Amino acid sequence: MWINKPSKRQAEILQFITKFQRKKIYSPSLGEIANNFGVSIPTIHQHISYLRKKNLLSANKGKRRSIQLLSDKEKELVEIPLLGVIAAGQPIETIEVPDETITITKDEISKQGKHYALRVQGNSMIDEGIFDGDIVVIRKQETADNGQTVVAIIDDDQATLKKLYREKNKFRLQPANPTLFPIYRDEVEVRGVVVKIIRNLESQIDKGRPDEKYTRRIDYSWDYRGENTKTYTHGIHTYPAMFIPQVARRLLETYSKEGDTICDIFCGSGTALVESKVLNRNAYGIDLNPLAIFLAKAKTAPINPKKLTREYIALLNRLEKIKNNEIKKPIFKNIDFWFKEKAVIKLAKLKKAIRGIKDKAIRNFLMVAFSETVRYASNTKTGEFKLVRIKGEKLEKHDPDVFGIFRKKAEANIAGGGEFYKEAKRDAWTKIIFGDSSKENGIKENSIDCIITSPPYGDSRTTVAYGQFSRLSAQWIDIFDDPNKASGVDNELLGGRATKTLSHTLSSDYLNDSLDKIAKQDENRAKDVLSFYIGLNDCLKRAYKILKPKKYFCLVIGNRLVK
Ligand SMILES: C[S@@+](CC[C@H](N)C(=O)[O-])C[C@H]1O[C@@H](n2cnc3c(N)ncnc32)[C@H](O)[C@@H]1O
Repeated sequence: MWINKPSKRQAEILQFITKFQRKKIYSPSLGEIANNFGVSIPTIHQHISYLRKKNLLSANKGKRRSIQLLSDKEKELVEIPLLGVIAAGQPIETIEVPDETITITKDEISKQGKHYALRVQGNSMIDEGIFDGDIVVIRKQETADNGQTVVAIIDDDQATLKKLYREKNKFRLQPANPTLFPIYRDEVEVRGVVVKIIRNLESQIDKGRPDEKYTRRIDYSWDYRGENTKTYTHGIHTYPAMFIPQVARRLLETYSKEGDTICDIFCGSGTALVESKVLNRNAYGIDLNPLAIFLAKAKTAPINPKKLTREYIALLNRLEKIKNNEIKKPIFKNIDFWFKEKAVIKLAKLKKAIRGIKDKAIRNFLMVAFSETVRYASNTKTGEFKLVRIKGEKLEKHDPDVFGIFRKKAEANIAGGGEFYKEAKRDAWTKIIFGDSSKENGIKENSIDCIITSPPYGDSRTTVAYGQFSRLSAQWIDIFDDPNKASGVDNELLGGRATKTLSHTLSSDYLNDSLDKIAKQDENRAKDVLSFYIGLNDCLKRAYKILKPKKYFCLVIGNRLVK
């Protein structure tokens, strides 16, 4: 049974609030609670959020003295069936039915309708605050509004937890995780909508896992679920493991000031650089993936939207007139494997029309929409960052509307570009360097006021393959002199080349323990991991050199698992 029981410290806090309210009639402030327990306000804030999630009290965010204990009636308990496991990731076979129940308070669910619960497996909904191991309470229903998080059955018997959107002729099942793509289907069967998320705080946070030295602490104020992450130029092109712009913004606002020079040493598609320009910070970005450099440059160059729209309309007119015999198809290995002939012809026409634009910034901006079009028009599965070809009947039927995809993308990008143009600060410069962050890249020592970055995962075989993701686009938009070189990018990135042996001089017991564990199962895998950490260590040393003394280095990291 799963009960929202408070931890010892949380019970003490509840007791303190009860006594305080009885004595003074009003509720204590966070500071008063913190003082009483001799801990910091953020610690109390965290406990209060857990107690709210456990439905033991209510509190209005940002309002002083708003903590209220919930009455016993409000806490009346109900038991609902826990039907099994649901995938927040790749769909899995439909739900099993074991004999388990969970207990929650009555007011946590709506009065109408039947409810059931499922345990979540996977990380595709993390931006909605739904994590691996959480339990979601579902209200049974067969319809859902746009944007609701639903239990959906697709392909007859595959169940998945996603946000549902109705689009023109199909349904989009949208993961809430920037590293994953949506799933599109003509038919989706809705089995209910999520009404509540229950996190197993008892085991995950309060006590930590018994076999682990470290305790997991979650500060929910960094949870930006439901917020628009595609403002300005942030949404003009997908990229693996992009920053949540709100995270970059908050770090910039907290650890730097206007006029400062910041650096993102793994800038990827340039999220932190876009935010820097809007917040009036100068910015350097470094990346070793040529497509990332191309995207970051396009995203950070403010372009007058009127000029952009004019060029776009002229481009559409030119496009109509281009004849089949006027185009040059690109030549690279396996082009016929990844693209149908019809798509190649249309893409080649589009590319010719875009290349006719004289203004370089505008040309590159529209090339970004073209790059996205390339991926959607290819024979790859759109739900993956890796290159995986669609198969069988689906491949036979695959007939992408290349110009339609481009128009939709270009028009959305122009809107985002206009927003950025309005807000970008003209005095703030952005310099984007194609280079390896473990080496010297021309940035002066002691010249950076703040580093904000998120490092690669260094494990392209099982997780994020930046180079593989970028390959087809890079081959089409002539990023390399020889397009066949595009397939070598992942080898150049951190962790791209395994070390020869497992001996090293990095002084981390934790790393050594982890390497031992991995090597016992797969020595080559351990060499990949070691190569990543040696590279990362060099990047951090370099970063230390360019950063001014006593300034902040903000590293946003993911929880890495190596298979
Ligand atoms: C997590 S991504 C950064 C994403 C970025 N924050 C964004 O919002 O798009 C990490 C980036 O590190 C880059 N990278 C990997 N090894 C590198 C190296 N040695 N030097 C510079 N960049 C590297 C990858 O190409 C990738 O773009």
